[in-house]
Amino acid sequence: MPTVTYHHPDADPDVVEAEDGTSVMRTAVGHGVPGIVGECGGQAMCATCHVYVREEYLDGLPEISDDEDEMLDCTTAPRDDERSRLSCQLKCGTHFDRLEVDVPPSQV
Ligand code: FES
Repeated sequence: MPTVTYHHPDADPDVVEAEDGTSVMRTAVGHGVPGIVGECGGQAMCATCHVYVREEYLDGLPEISDDEDEMLDCTTAPRDDERSRLSCQLKCGTHFDRLEVDVPPSQV
């Protein structure tokens, strides 16, 4: 089962076993992980699911689409050109078996 670790700025990390094919955003929301909102439901239209992927997990992730790229310019916390992703665009099991992300201090 894929595993996602959500590191928080001021709290212990959440380690969640995810369902295959479920996004990192939906996994967080479904398990009550704080700091990921997912306002648009995963349509790459809100940027409230912004995360920073830890560097060792960047290889193998899908390319950033034009829509995702545009929304990443609208994040509340600063965009990191290497590590910022919309977590609704990252699918557990499909794109990785293990992933660690840093949750930004704010999403709205
Ligand atoms: Fe809205 Fe990811 S949930 S952009």
